[in-house]
Amino acid sequence: MEKEFNPFISAGYREPAYFCDRKEESKQLTQLMLNGANVTLFAIRRLGKTGLIHHVFYPYRKNSKIVCIYIDILATNNLAEFTNQLATAIYNRFPPQKTLGKKIMDLFQRFRPVISFDELTGIPSLSLTIQTTAQNENTIGQIFQFLDEQNIKVVFAIDEFQQILEYPEKNTEAILRTQIQFLKNISFIFCGSNQKMMHEIFNSAKRPFFASCTNISLGFINENEYKTFILKKFNENDRTITDECLDFICKFTQLHTFYTQYFCFILFSKNKKENTIEDARETALNILQLNESSYFQYKNLLTTSQWNILCAIAKEEKVYQPQSKKFVTTYQLGTPGLVKKGMDALLKKEIIFYNSGVETPYYEVYDKYLMRWIQYK
Ligand SMILES: Nc1ncnc2c1ncn2[C@@H]1O[C@H](COP(=O)(O)OP(=O)(O)OP(=O)(O)O)[C@@H](O)[C@H]1O
Ligand SMILES: [Mg+2]
Repeated sequence: MEKEFNPFISAGYREPAYFCDRKEESKQLTQLMLNGANVTLFAIRRLGKTGLIHHVFYPYRKNSKIVCIYIDILATNNLAEFTNQLATAIYNRFPPQKTLGKKIMDLFQRFRPVISFDELTGIPSLSLTIQTTAQNENTIGQIFQFLDEQNIKVVFAIDEFQQILEYPEKNTEAILRTQIQFLKNISFIFCGSNQKMMHEIFNSAKRPFFASCTNISLGFINENEYKTFILKKFNENDRTITDECLDFICKFTQLHTFYTQYFCFILFSKNKKENTIEDARETALNILQLNESSYFQYKNLLTTSQWNILCAIAKEEKVYQPQSKKFVTTYQLGTPGLVKKGMDALLKKEIIFYNSGVETPYYEVYDKYLMRWIQYK
């Protein structure tokens, strides 16, 4: 392993050595994918859905019998762009020098592809000639059919899948569902950062994808696992970290993956041989100061009532009954009706979220650093 490299990844995925735990979830997802099940991965924002997919795909990156292809469709605006993204990912995974790659290129030739190269990375992208929705459906169908007939298993992970709800083609869900339901050797992992939209697509009885996938819900990483991981990464780099320091980190970030990773990233970047609770406190202050201007922006973008509700939730950390007399009067929020209106706006702006994946659901502030900033102010 490289030394001097910050081992706390807070953007993207590197390799298993930098990935904490998720053993059970990885095993479960791998088993489902090897058995050809379609899976939907649910979790609150920044908890590690995308990371988990990359982690599960990692051992198969050079496997020619089980081919794992990851696509992020956030930047696509319509079905044709979706198809091009799909085609590009397939094209890049099967080099045209190999037999299967040649066959795939022959298939793409039917759709008169234009190949362009990214100026910075040099990675090619494919643009197929597609004019109508019917043509588009046919193209997707032919691509999947072709791959399904090869002697391989293909697993597509489609990230930010809720983006299809933004396409002008309102029947995208139906088109995709129809195309994929009879595939024998191709399966899918669907995932997205907007839980509400993802639930609408997969858990609404009136919609095409209803009950078509196995749902996996991702929770928080176990505290002891996380502490062991952090300790190991510090020790591997000839540094120490005290138990109090580890406790502080886990409490401060409430074990939310992104916030924990980022905290450790900053702490590690201070290059201290010994890391104590004082260093953790200093790191916390640094992070809050770094983010302060964006928190002031939040404040300016919200109404006074919304801001007061947000502050009340931040102080409580978990709010079970926001319209209760106790909550409304303790924080002088006016009336339950006003609170309801404010909460709806905060939920829509994704500043707070409703954790319904637990026995007693509750509301909390999404951004753990914003929550701490409000508490300290
Ligand atoms: N198990 C893990 N160990 C170490 N770091 C992780 C782990 N899971 C995720 N991360 C880190 O946390 C960051 C956030 O994770 P990720 O992007 O996978 O979350 P997400 O649930 O896909 O977020 P979003 O809802 O925004 O799509 C990642 O950049 C990654 O570096
Ligand atoms: Mg993600």
